[in-house]
Amino acid sequence: MHADLSVVILAAGQGTRMKSSRAKVLHTLGGQPLVCFPIERARELGAARIVVVLGHQHAEVTAVIEQRFGADAVEVALQLEQLGTAHAVAQAAPKLGGARGPILIIYADVPLLTADTLRRLCAGWRPGGLALVTARPTDPHGYGRIVRTPDGLVARIVEEKDATPAERRIAEINAGIYCVDAALLREALERVGRKNAQREFYLTDLAEMAAQRGRVEVVEADADEVAGINDRAQLAACEARLHGQLARALMTGGVTIRDPARVRIDLGVTVGADTEIGPGVELRGGTRIGSGCRIEAGSILSAATVGDGVHIRPYCVLAQCTVGPGAVVGPFAHLRPGTELAEGVHIGNFVETKKARLGKGSKANHLTYLGDAELGAGVNVGAGTITCNYDGVAKQKTVIEDGVFIGSDTQLVAPVTVGAGAYIGAGTTVTRPVPPRALAISRAPQKNIEGYATRKQGKRK
Ligand code: UD1
Ligand code: MG
Repeated sequence: MHADLSVVILAAGQGTRMKSSRAKVLHTLGGQPLVCFPIERARELGAARIVVVLGHQHAEVTAVIEQRFGADAVEVALQLEQLGTAHAVAQAAPKLGGARGPILIIYADVPLLTADTLRRLCAGWRPGGLALVTARPTDPHGYGRIVRTPDGLVARIVEEKDATPAERRIAEINAGIYCVDAALLREALERVGRKNAQREFYLTDLAEMAAQRGRVEVVEADADEVAGINDRAQLAACEARLHGQLARALMTGGVTIRDPARVRIDLGVTVGADTEIGPGVELRGGTRIGSGCRIEAGSILSAATVGDGVHIRPYCVLAQCTVGPGAVVGPFAHLRPGTELAEGVHIGNFVETKKARLGKGSKANHLTYLGDAELGAGVNVGAGTITCNYDGVAKQKTVIEDGVFIGSDTQLVAPVTVGAGAYIGAGTTVTRPVPPRALAISRAPQKNIEGYATRKQGKRK
């Protein structure tokens, strides 16, 4: 790769065809905003300089870039009025200074483009000239077409809206990825006009200018890889392809996926070997799963860290939480942010946890809410137990020490502590600290009224 490679990424457009209040490059694919994809590729190539052209919602897009890559990873050039792709590159030109050698230009709406294709493009480039990527999709509609001379050389690119019916039948399309000599680019940018159907400065005019000076090199790529995203249907199609790629990579690494077409896996998710993933599972950004786990149907995990040998039963929702090795969760459990389950914890159906730490082997198997709670090891939480963590003003903490047994239908009114080894009788409302190994019980004594039903029925007659 050229040591002084500069990369220009065009991301200023609104993306009119998305019909969105959000800039197109902020829409996500595999959990990652579109604008991040070309930046990642440029970094993979070891680019000396990355200039991103932003316009529509540039403050929001800049924030996303800085959050993902840090403050100094790219330079931003502003294109406040979007007058076309050549105009966009012209806004980046001052940032390129007197750059010599090749400049790589990538459109930000082609997210599945690989670094490999970019390397082939740069290898095909000749000093002084232009190299570009083309493809032959089954439906070329909407793309610029590659017009070739009778002897097969690139003559120019014609946009769909400017094309004659004969030109529209051309199968080879422009992918919007160019490697161009810096001097040739500077010269071309001065000459591009806007006499076309869209009254825009087309970067594609570069092809004809380069052809007049010499040969335009072409690198053909797979049509799916260079598919552009201009509307929601194309976004969905690209996302399905990406999920397919990520699922295949996991399967290659020894993960069983029962129905790959129905599983969603975000970028950066890791899963250990011999883990089994059921249909309809979504593994969202930041999720890491160990080996030998079972993640059953319909469970959705976001930024969850799951240890080895964990069993997540069907339809659980986990977010920003940690599940220790050998734990069993669900079905229908909700582990909210700040949940930390130690080894061998059992969380059963209709249990919700939030900012809750459960020690080794503790169990809450039925219909329970544990919020702002710290439970030791070997605690047994009976069905229907609730930590009353909110006093109407602030959140308060419940501490339950090792080996406590909590009877069913208990309310723990926080802040409160239950000492190690204590028992709470079923139906108790705990409002005061419970000493270690004590029994706390607060329910009214039971009264039986003999013959009550018989007398009541007698009256009615
Ligand atoms: C463009 C190409 C077309 C190609 C297709 C490949 C031109 C004139 N056409 O068409 O030949 O087949 O991509 O996907 O280049 N942008 C700016 N500023 C602008 C206009 C666009 O930054 O003023 C950015 C957009 O944010 C986007 C990229 O450039 O990331 C491409 O723009 P878009 O409007 O999607 O061009 P296409 O119609 O897809
Ligand atoms: Mg496009």
